[in-house]
Amino acid sequence: MAITGCKKKQIAVLTGGGDAPGLNAVIRGITVKAISLGYDVIGFKKGWAGLLNQGETHPLDLDQVASIHVTGGTILGTSRTNPYKEENGVNQVKESLKKHCCEAIIAIGGEDTLGVANKLNKDGIKVVGVPKTIDNDLSGTDYTFGFDTSVNIAAKAIRDLHTTAESHRRIMIVEIMGRHAGWITMHASIAGGAHITLLPEEKFDLNEICKVIKNRQDKGKNHTIIAVSEGAVPKQGDMALQTKEKDAFGHVRLGGIAQGLCEELEKSCGQECRHVVLGHLQRAGAPSAFDVVLGTRLGVKAMELIDKKEFGKMAALKGTEIVSVDLQEAVGTLKTVPKEFIKEEKLFWGIDD
Ligand code: F6P
Repeated sequence: MAITGCKKKQIAVLTGGGDAPGLNAVIRGITVKAISLGYDVIGFKKGWAGLLNQGETHPLDLDQVASIHVTGGTILGTSRTNPYKEENGVNQVKESLKKHCCEAIIAIGGEDTLGVANKLNKDGIKVVGVPKTIDNDLSGTDYTFGFDTSVNIAAKAIRDLHTTAESHRRIMIVEIMGRHAGWITMHASIAGGAHITLLPEEKFDLNEICKVIKNRQDKGKNHTIIAVSEGAVPKQGDMALQTKEKDAFGHVRLGGIAQGLCEELEKSCGQECRHVVLGHLQRAGAPSAFDVVLGTRLGVKAMELIDKKEFGKMAALKGTEIVSVDLQEAVGTLKTVPKEFIKEEKLFWGIDD
């Protein structure tokens, strides 16, 4: 799509899907790099909704982005809007870009937002992506920004729960975000010292859990901490849903596995149990230093890709390098925790105090 009659080089930026700490660092990285290359930047508010009819914009210049990199949330707002689910959605996006003289879009998002970006690119719109999600489940990048902050929050919660669990000789279950991928749960469980880790990648066995708890009881270890992903499923049951209603990308809202498991374990292991749902606290507050740096570098790279006209790409972290990969690679398959890692971690079940 060629935009004619515009005086300046101008690009659009949006943040879509669930917010993740580090979004503002990406916005700042893009803006500072864009200005250094002679571009103007317009932020479109509330994800893809900003590029549909009546969408709102937010001008981005050096003043607007000063010091935002250390703050949480997104100054552009976000939504789970899917232009492919709106009547004439793709044309509305094209019209908005034309109206605002934007030659390309940088979409900052996870599998849903970047899935749309990939489709729009195939439909003739110039797009570059930046990988965001606390879930760390996007392929094509070693880590997404937001994940590290989230792991730190969940790991601290697990660590802190030890004292109360121990004092009351209880089982404590911590429910952690992750619908289909258990990355946050896995890392937080190890870092926070949980005794059992339950992920969406592998159905769990209630009898096996009870055995670990009983073994601990036999050794005089009277508390057990279990880290469970919201998307974990028992061999003996179904996924715990908060509501069956689906969003514009077909996702149901999960929640309740910790409570259900607590009730089961109280019955089968004869030990008192309490549960904690960390919920949106895992995405709240300021980003970690790692996420500020990663977000900044990804933003700068995304803008470089725009300038080099490398559309249909995503900025990505590979080792310590920021590289570019095809958007298709990122959204093709969800990156889940590998079987070997799950096996490795199981070695540690039940052993710590
Ligand atoms: O994709 C990020 C995520 O935080 C998931 O881990 C979680 O299931 C979901 O978003 C929650 O979404 P919402 O903010 O719409 O409740």
